[in-house]
Amino acid sequence: MGGFRFKLSAFLLISFSLHIYAIKEVFAHVIVGNLRTFNFTDWVSDIRIAQSSKIDGFVLNIAAHDPSNEHSLDLAFEAASAVGNFKLLFSFDYRAQGPWSRDAVTELLRKYTRHPAYFKHDGKRPFVSTFEGAECAEDWPAIKAATNAFFVPDWSSVSAAHAVKLAGGVVDGLFSFKAWPSGRENMTTDMDDTFRAALGARRVYMMPVSPWFYTNLPGFGGKNWMWRGDGLWDRRWRQVIKIQPDFVQILTWNDFGESHYIGPIPEKALGLFQVANAPINYAQGVTHDGWRKFLPYYIEVYKTGKAPQQVDENVYAYYRTTPAYACPNGGTSGGSAAHGESVMPPEHLVDDNVFFSTLLNTDHGVTITVRIGDNEQTGVFTEFPAAGRGTPGVYTGSVPFAGRTGDVVVAVLRGSKVISRIGGGKPIANICENGTQNWNAVAI
Ligand SMILES: *[C@@H]1O[C@H](CO)[C@@H](O)[C@H](O)[C@H]1NC(C)=O
Ligand SMILES: *[C@@H]1O[C@H](CO)[C@@H](O)[C@H](O)[C@H]1NC(C)=O
Ligand SMILES: *[C@@H]1O[C@H](CO)[C@@H](O)[C@H](O)[C@H]1NC(C)=O
Repeated sequence: MGGFRFKLSAFLLISFSLHIYAIKEVFAHVIVGNLRTFNFTDWVSDIRIAQSSKIDGFVLNIAAHDPSNEHSLDLAFEAASAVGNFKLLFSFDYRAQGPWSRDAVTELLRKYTRHPAYFKHDGKRPFVSTFEGAECAEDWPAIKAATNAFFVPDWSSVSAAHAVKLAGGVVDGLFSFKAWPSGRENMTTDMDDTFRAALGARRVYMMPVSPWFYTNLPGFGGKNWMWRGDGLWDRRWRQVIKIQPDFVQILTWNDFGESHYIGPIPEKALGLFQVANAPINYAQGVTHDGWRKFLPYYIEVYKTGKAPQQVDENVYAYYRTTPAYACPNGGTSGGSAAHGESVMPPEHLVDDNVFFSTLLNTDHGVTITVRIGDNEQTGVFTEFPAAGRGTPGVYTGSVPFAGRTGDVVVAVLRGSKVISRIGGGKPIANICENGTQNWNAVAI
C-alpha cells in the first residue's frame, strides 16, 4: 500500500513537472488575409502539410476591419477539427489595417476560443498574440478579464523591458519579431536573451525563427528592403535548441509578400502582388519546400532536448536564381531605414552562393557535390552538429555560383553511393524579370 501510494505521488509529481516545464509548442504564422480565396479543402491541405512537418498549429494573423476574416476563420477551425490534433490561435494585427478596437477583439475571442481547436495554455486559458499594438496596451486588462486570455503579444517596436510594464504588467509573455540579423552579421541570440531577461521566470518567451526576408510592394507603403537570410534557417534552429524557449513561432507559413513563407504557394493566393503593384511576382514558382524538410528533426531535438542517435539522411539547398549584379536592384535596400538601421546596397548584403544542408548519421566518408548547369563543385562543411564531426545531425556549407548558370542539383554521397540527391528548382539564370532583381530564394 505504502509502495503504491509512493508510486502514485511520484507519478503525480512527474506529470506535474512535465506540465509546468515541457510546454514547447511550435507554431507557424499565417496571414489570413492572403487566404481569402481558400476553401475548406485548401485549409485541410495546408494543415496536413504543416502537421507532417511536426508543426503544432497556426498563429492566425488577422487584420482589423477585414470583412473576410470570419469566413476564413470558420473554414480554418472546421479544417483543424477535421484533421485533428492541430491548434489555432489569433494574432491581432494592429498595423495592416490600423488598430483593433477592444470590443472587436473581445467579440472575436468570445466567438472562437470556445472551439476545441483553439489553443489553450495549460489546457484552460486561450493563448492570444498580436502583431504590434503596444499603443493599445490599456485595452488588454479588460479583454483578459472578459476572455481569460493568456496574452503573449509581439510589441517589438518597444523594448522588451518597456513592454512587460505596459498596462500594469498585463502580458503573460512576449513574442519577438526580431528574426533577422542586421547588415551582414550572422544572427545571434542577443535579442532573445534581452527578452528573456526582461520576462523573468514567471512569463513565457515565444522565439521567432525565419528563413528569409525580401519585400518590394510599392502599393503597401513603398515597402522595399531585404534582410540577410544566408545561413539563417539552420543557424536559428541551432539557437532554438540551445535557448529552449517556451514556444517557437515560425515567420511565416504564407507571407508571400515578404518572402518568408515555408508553406506551399497556391496560385490563387498571389493576388497581393497585383494589389500592391509589385514590379515582379517574386514568389511565383519560387518554392520554399526545402525549408520544411528538417523541421521534424529540429522540432524533435528542441522538444526532447536531445539529438537522436539515428536520423533519416537527407539534403536540402537554397539559392537566389539571379546573380546579385545581373539585374537592376529594384531600389531594394539592404536593411531597413524604417527600423532605424543603416542600409547598404542589397548586392553587398548577400552572397551568390548555393547553401546546402544535410542531415547525416556521420560525415565520415561523405562528399557533397553541387552542380550548376554543366559545372560541378565539391562542397565543404562549415557548420557541424553540436557534438562535433562524426556525430549525427545537420552539416551545412555553401559554394559560390562563380558566374555559372543552369539547373542546380545537389548530391550527397558516401563513398560512391548516393545517399540523397535534390534538384528541380528554378534554375540560376542571367534573366531579369521586368528589369528588376528578384531577391527571393528557392529552397529545394
Ligand atoms: C477548392 O479549391 C481547389 C483549388 O485550390 C479546387 O481544386 C477545389 O475544387 C475547390 N473545392 C471546392 C469544393 O470548391
Ligand atoms: C557568419 O558565419 C559564417 C559561417 O559560419 C562565417 O564564415 C562568417 O565569417 C560569419 N560572418 C560574420 C560577419 O561573423
Ligand atoms: C513591370 O513593371 C512595370 C513598372 O514598374 C509595371 O507597370 C508592370 O506591371 C510590370 N509588369 C509585370 C509583368 O510585372
